[in-house]
Order: sequence, then structure tokens, then C-alpha cells
Amino acid sequence: MQGKLTVDPASQIAKIDDRVYSALIEHLGRSVYDGLYQPNHPQSDQDGFRQDVIDAVKSLNIDLIRYPGGNFVSGFNWEDSIGPKSTRPTRLDLAWRSIETNQFGLHEFMKWTQKTGTRPDMAVNLGSRGIDAARNLVEYCNFSGGTYWSDLRKQNGAEEPFNIKTWCLGNEMDGDWQIGHKTADEYGRLAHETAKVMRLVDPSIDLVVSGSSTREMATFGSWEETVLDHTYDDVDYLSLHRYYDNEENDLANFLAKSIDFDEFISGIVAVCDAVKARKHSHKTLNLALDEWNVWYHSHKQDDETAPWQQAPHLLEDHYNFEDALMVGTMLITLLKHADRVKIACLAQLVNVIAPIMTDEHGIWLQSIFFPFLQISKYGRGITLTPQQTATTYDSKDFKDVPYLDSLAVYNSENHEIVIFAENKGNTTMDFQTDLHDLNAQTVIEATQFCGYDIKQTNENQQMALHPNSNVHLSDNTLTASLQPLSWNMFRLHVTH
Ligand code: AHR
Repeated sequence: MQGKLTVDPASQIAKIDDRVYSALIEHLGRSVYDGLYQPNHPQSDQDGFRQDVIDAVKSLNIDLIRYPGGNFVSGFNWEDSIGPKSTRPTRLDLAWRSIETNQFGLHEFMKWTQKTGTRPDMAVNLGSRGIDAARNLVEYCNFSGGTYWSDLRKQNGAEEPFNIKTWCLGNEMDGDWQIGHKTADEYGRLAHETAKVMRLVDPSIDLVVSGSSTREMATFGSWEETVLDHTYDDVDYLSLHRYYDNEENDLANFLAKSIDFDEFISGIVAVCDAVKARKHSHKTLNLALDEWNVWYHSHKQDDETAPWQQAPHLLEDHYNFEDALMVGTMLITLLKHADRVKIACLAQLVNVIAPIMTDEHGIWLQSIFFPFLQISKYGRGITLTPQQTATTYDSKDFKDVPYLDSLAVYNSENHEIVIFAENKGNTTMDFQTDLHDLNAQTVIEATQFCGYDIKQTNENQQMALHPNSNVHLSDNTLTASLQPLSWNMFRLHVTH
């Protein structure tokens, strides 16, 4: 099997925005409680935050944390989560049929972002609430002082404003499962008015309007058009969500779904640009892919979980090796859209469809942790236009699927070209990269993630990235063997 990538530094897609390495933390299951917050655990610090979780989150170089949901936000009263913990109400969380104690709230979240070196991406409730709750929250978080809400923040221990820059106007408002689900016109009008009023409080904020919750929605496309008709001039980003599964247990078709992912993103870009043209606008709208991942292993168990528990085990997918390959190909795909995808949140981060899992002893890292770790650490710089040729296959739903998925990132500051390459086939691939006039001098690092049974999970922490010694660099050409079903990274020192 053959695969070839031609790297031309003059052919650039865009600089990768740091915010594409972001994640969602939702009040759901054991994400917050027993995940990042567990006051009586031996690993927890004086604030009750799990230090082992903080360390793992830091290692992933996450930028934004979208919070507090997800579906949860559409029934959430943010005021419940501030003030002395003893006075905070315990509520029914109707989104996940759980008990919410509000012991981890807004101030705790802000402190946790500081400790993890992340930044908040705050969602407001446009399901059960609306303009008033949203504007009060912006005033509480971002206004310096001298008003009711800003002085209450000071009274609650935060003298300085939080200055939250990025805000989401609700969550998945197109879905009938959503508390306060709306038609596109209803939501578009509300989002427009809410955006206007939030900006009256703080004109410097960035706003994300909710797009389709999945490509399969009957309203997909028309939802975006109608919502953007109302909000195009008000917002900075349109959100999109995408989860994949392998319910049918068909690996070739599963990994080919990166084609669907690519078409999904391109389709939304086309809708944004159609609205732009119709509005005679000079503004180009970018995308916030603010939920993406593999999600399906936990569905059956979740259906059987009794309601109204506090921090129940929900959405606890145990990811296997093929899921890591799927996450790898999704990451490469989204970087190919670096010109328009400026925010992307892995959903989620801890315990709930997550790379990081906790138990009473400590943490364990899922298979999907590894491709995310590498691309988030080294996928910094400019995405170069992938010019790729490779052997192809047909799967159940897709034709001419390349066995190779590859991409090069040019990091001019570090004088590095970083190549990410996935072999989706069952046999070894002869991989060649033509480095054009880049003058590649040395291979700094070559790693591979492979050799595991596709159904192997990582509870016992056996998975790791290994060096790839089957690599050769000469005459500006890198040749390497890509193991069957493998995720690979090559870092090259270049002068240009
Ligand atoms: O991430 C889990 C859920 O998936 C989120 O709450 C919701 O927005 C999406 O449907």
C-alpha cells in the first residue's frame, strides 16, 4: 500500500487557532463531581480540585473550556451556583435527570480554569431563561463594580472582573430534547436580542450562535440559514456539533466517516457564505465546532441508570483503539479547515465521553488521549494544503476512501514541519513525503501509536506512543513505514 504527501510551504490553508484545542466540561454525570471536584479525595487540593486531573488537563494544552453545558445549561439558573456553598440550592437537573447540588459553581469554575491554565467559554441559558439572566451574568462576570451584580461578585470573593471573552448563546436549540427547544425563527430572534443586550453590558465579548446539533437533523442547513438571517451581524461564530459511532461494528466504514465530517464542515461553511452573499455582507463568519468526539459505548448502560442520583455514572464510554484512530482522523480533518474552524471543543474532558477518567485510586487515560495529546502539543503553526495521493477503498457508505489521512503543519518559530499521518488499512503502508524546497535537515522525532487490538481499551494503562525507527530522510524526501492501523507523527527540522 502506498501513500504520498507533498508539502509545499507556499500553499497554506491558515494559521491554526489555539482555540481548536478546547474542551467541554458539563455538569453531567461524574464530569464535575468526582471528576474535577472531589473535596475529600486524597489527591484533591485545598479547593477540593483533583490535582491528578489538573495535571492531566495541563498536559493536553487545552485552551478554552466550554461550560456549564451542553444540555444542562438549558435548565440552569446560574445564580444558584454563587454565594456561600451552604446556601446554594439543590435542584433537579432535568437534562440528565440527576441531582445538582451547586457545590461547584461559577467561582469554583473560574478558579479551576486558572489552575489548569485554561480560559472560560461560557454558555448562557436560552432554553428555560433568556435575555435577563444572560445580561445579569455578563454584568456579574465582566463589569468592574458599582452595580448590583458586579458588587455581588466582589462580595463573593472576586474583586476583579472575570472578563470572560467567549460566550455561547444557548445549546443545541434545534433539538426537541432540549429544555426550551425552539424553532429557528424563535431562536434566531431570541439570540439576536440576547446578543444585543449582552453587548450593551460588554461590547468586547465574542458570541457563538447555536447551529445544528447534528448533520442528521431534518432542519440541518435551513436552521443555520434562518438563524443567521436573524443574527449574522451580531455573532462571531456559528456552532456545530458532531459525534460518530461504530454501532454497526464496521471498522472500514467507521474510519471513513472522516469524509462525512469533512463534508459536514464544508457544508456549514457554504451556508454561512450563502447568507453572507445574500446580506451583501463584508464579514466572514467562522465556526465553533464546540462539541465533537466518538460517543456510543455507554448508551445502553445510561438507559438503565436510575434517575435522580448525584454524580451518577453517565456517558462513561470506555474508548478502544479504533476510537483513537477515529479521533485522530477527525483531528486531521478539522485542521484541514483551519481557515474557518477557529474553536473546537473535544466533548468532553473528564469522565463523560472523555480522554481522562477518574476512580477512587487516581486517574487513567483513555486511548483517545494520545492522538489529542500529540496534535495539541505539536499541531501549532500553519496548516499546509494537503496534496496527497494514496491507495483507496470502498466502504459501506463511502467510495474512494484514501487509506492514508495526512497533514503537515509548518511551525516557522521552531523551524519545524510536523506531519500527522494515519494508516486506516490492515497492511503496512509505504509512506513518502516530498518536502519541496523546505530543506529538511533532521528528523527530530518520529512516533507511532499502533499494534493494539482494535477493541482494546486502556483501563490498565498499557497504551503508549512508541518511537518509529523505520524512517529515512534524504534529498528533502521523508520515507517511512506506517504500521497497519496506525497513528503517526514526524517532526522535522527545516530551514526555509
Ligand atoms: O456532550 C453530551 C451532550 O451532547 C451535550 O450535553 C449536548 O449538547 C450534546 O447533545
